[in-house]
Amino acid sequence: MAVSSACYVYAIMDPTTPVTPAEFAAYYDLRYRVLRAPWNQPLGSERADDDEAPDTTHAMLTAPDKTVVGVARLHPSGPSQGQVRYMAVDPAWQGHGVGRKLLEYLETVARQRGLTECILHARDTAVPFYSRMGYEVVAPSHTLFGSIPHFLMCKPL
Ligand SMILES: CC(C)(COP(=O)(O)OP(=O)(O)OC[C@H]1O[C@@H](n2cnc3c(N)ncnc32)[C@H](O)[C@@H]1OP(=O)(O)O)[C@@H](O)C(=O)NCCC(=O)NCCS
Repeated sequence: MAVSSACYVYAIMDPTTPVTPAEFAAYYDLRYRVLRAPWNQPLGSERADDDEAPDTTHAMLTAPDKTVVGVARLHPSGPSQGQVRYMAVDPAWQGHGVGRKLLEYLETVARQRGLTECILHARDTAVPFYSRMGYEVVAPSHTLFGSIPHFLMCKPL
């Protein structure tokens, strides 16, 4: 990355929704590389059954060179509740405000839909990030791949 600062991300980068097949391919590729490949999970394991549901919102952040550097998605998980899943930032861009920008974008979408709270199941290593973003741990959740503890977290919107 040429310039490494959260200011840079905030000044010139805005989340978008993937539309074209190429954009979706890049979107899922980053999801796979960050959330599945390090645990030797098969290609395809990064996809979810409801990824193509009409009420699932996908968001990505793209660098000026068109590289996708961050992805996340939101879906309704109750009458007034949304759930964020599959948040992944390219390791080279982590710590520069990409995750913040994606999460704030999805929270705005959730508010626009009339949702009043947002939940997620955070990897233990991501709990400090979500805490910084205003989420509170509700309870321990599942363990992924036998080695990644998760925690249910919630934030009123
Ligand atoms: C977790 C993740 C999404 C965070 O995205 P990011 O772009 O690295 O985070 P940001 O730079 O936007 O950080 C936003 C704020 O959280 C803070 N933060 C981020 N990670 C933190 C950590 N591990 N400990 C403490 N604070 C942290 C930042 O300091 C920043 O605070 P500030 O705005 O006051 O400066 C990203 O690191 C990632 O993809 N990790 C690997 C995959 C993963 O765990 N995904 C989540 C699955 S549940």
